[in-house]
Amino acid sequence: MEPIIKVENFTFYYPDSQVPALAGINLTVQAGEFLGLTGPTGAGKTTLALALNGIIPNFQGGRMGGRVMVAGLDTAKTPCARLAGVIGSVFQDPEAQLVAEVVEDELAFGLENLAVPREEMRQRIGAALEMVGIASLRHRSLRELSGGQKQKVAIAAAVALRPRVLVLDEPTSELDPRGTLEIVALLQRLNRDYGITILLIEQKISVLAPRVPRLVCLNKGRIVADASPRQILAQEKLTTELGLEVPPVTALFRMLRRAGVYHGDLPLEVDEGQRELGRLLGSRASRA
Ligand SMILES: Nc1ncnc2c1ncn2[C@@H]1O[C@H](COP(=O)(O)OP(=O)(O)O)[C@@H](O)[C@H]1O
Ligand SMILES: [Mg+2]
Repeated sequence: MEPIIKVENFTFYYPDSQVPALAGINLTVQAGEFLGLTGPTGAGKTTLALALNGIIPNFQGGRMGGRVMVAGLDTAKTPCARLAGVIGSVFQDPEAQLVAEVVEDELAFGLENLAVPREEMRQRIGAALEMVGIASLRHRSLRELSGGQKQKVAIAAAVALRPRVLVLDEPTSELDPRGTLEIVALLQRLNRDYGITILLIEQKISVLAPRVPRLVCLNKGRIVADASPRQILAQEKLTTELGLEVPPVTALFRMLRRAGVYHGDLPLEVDEGQRELGRLLGSRASRA
């Protein structure tokens, strides 16, 4: 099957910049994947998100090379309104992306832009709110909502356009740990139950690692790793270079590996680590 995202040798320079924000990016994503994208500030993560949804190059000047295909559409040659029905975006700051006073109007806004008929619009708003689990917020004022609720509204507004892909650019950076995990769980549900391809940009590796099968790492405009989080977190040189905050439990087991006392998979979460430690101590005790 044709991949849902195909980035081919993509390079982009912002206006007046001598250094490319992205250079020689090749990335293939199959429909239904849940992909994490990480890397330090300035790595090019947001630039890649903007290239996927067509803001680059349609609304942002600069020089580009290569191409970005989403669901068979060349994003540089496709009107943004058409792309909006294929790929939805959610950004870091919920305030900056919400325009309406009331939740349902926020969802209506995008549908009006696509000239969806009134009755269908009502249905699609209801369905999107259900999918995101915020049907009870339909008539609430956006101003009264928490940061996490606002991000859910932004996600629902994207979902109402029935995209095949959702790109989320650090959607939890303003949220507390509980709000963060709620958003990630919601994205997992949208991926599993509705087959929406998810690209989640996230610097908090401890949030991403246990929940994504595939992690792409960007540094200085280039893809420097594309593997499972376990494989990536096993590489000490790479994680140091990227400044990734390796989960403490993972770092501990890396030490145990180095010391030659542990040979299993690296745990990514505490309960996984507890299990492995129990097994390790159990097997040592039975040998003694
Ligand atoms: N509007 C812009 N104009 C010029 N340079 C930019 C602009 N936005 C980002 N950059 C530069 O492009 C590079 C990549 O930035 P960005 O994609 O925002 O990285 P990230 O999201 O990983 O922090 C950085 O060097 C940044 O300074
Ligand atoms: Mg960014």
